[in-house]
Amino acid sequence: MKIVVVGATGTVGKAVVAALQGRHEVIKVGSKSGDLQADIKDSKSIRALFEKAGKVDAVACTAGKVHFGDFAKLTETEMLNSLKDKFLGQVNLVLIGRDYVNDNGSFTLMSGLLSHDPIRLGACASAVNGAVDCFARCAAIELPRGIRINSVSPGLLQESLEHYGPYFPGHKTVTGAEVGRAYVKSIEGHLTGQTIHVL
Ligand SMILES: NC(=O)c1ccc[n+]([C@@H]2O[C@H](COP(=O)([O-])OP(=O)(O)OC[C@H]3O[C@@H](n4cnc5c(N)ncnc54)[C@H](OP(=O)(O)O)[C@@H]3O)[C@@H](O)[C@H]2O)c1
Repeated sequence: MKIVVVGATGTVGKAVVAALQGRHEVIKVGSKSGDLQADIKDSKSIRALFEKAGKVDAVACTAGKVHFGDFAKLTETEMLNSLKDKFLGQVNLVLIGRDYVNDNGSFTLMSGLLSHDPIRLGACASAVNGAVDCFARCAAIELPRGIRINSVSPGLLQESLEHYGPYFPGHKTVTGAEVGRAYVKSIEGHLTGQTIHVL
């Protein structure tokens, strides 16, 4: 399969690429890194990406930034920016990318366990992850030509423990390899409208 991985150079993205590479043609995308560059916050940039990549069999996203901060000080702008980045960015990958995905192809989006297991400072992430899971569930029933869509919702990666561990007291970690396998399950399997939890 020809697969576009957006966010391919990040912690999660590298694990997803490792799980796919060798068996598929993988096009790695970052905003500044990768084989091709695109900013998911900019719909023109997403369209230009697909024009360069051409028709693909699968689009996998492991990009999307959200604000972390004290709920008492949370602003509308911080919430809006988080929604524009991780939620609308991924939604636009689907709305624009659906014209470039082959019959029976797939989209796999990135969410995260905070949708159902909140932590302090994580209100934006929780809301955005929930919205991503919900979008995948509803888009699945209307995508044409056998195109499937799922979200992958992992817990904290072992590889990110040093950076984010203090924010996740008592949480189990998961490995990048396990998250990579969840993307493989979405891309090579037959599921649609599902959130694949990696916990
Ligand atoms: N790490 C974890 O433990 C974990 C657990 C659950 C969920 N998640 C979710 O997974 C996602 C990625 O996390 P991560 O830790 O892998 O982050 P990361 O290491 O910072 O990687 C982010 C990746 O996205 C690309 N990127 C950033 N902004 C972009 C944009 N506007 N358009 C296109 N690509 C962009 C980056 O490439 P450039 O540098 O070239 O822009 C990079 O490849 C996040 O949504 C996070 O919430 C992470």
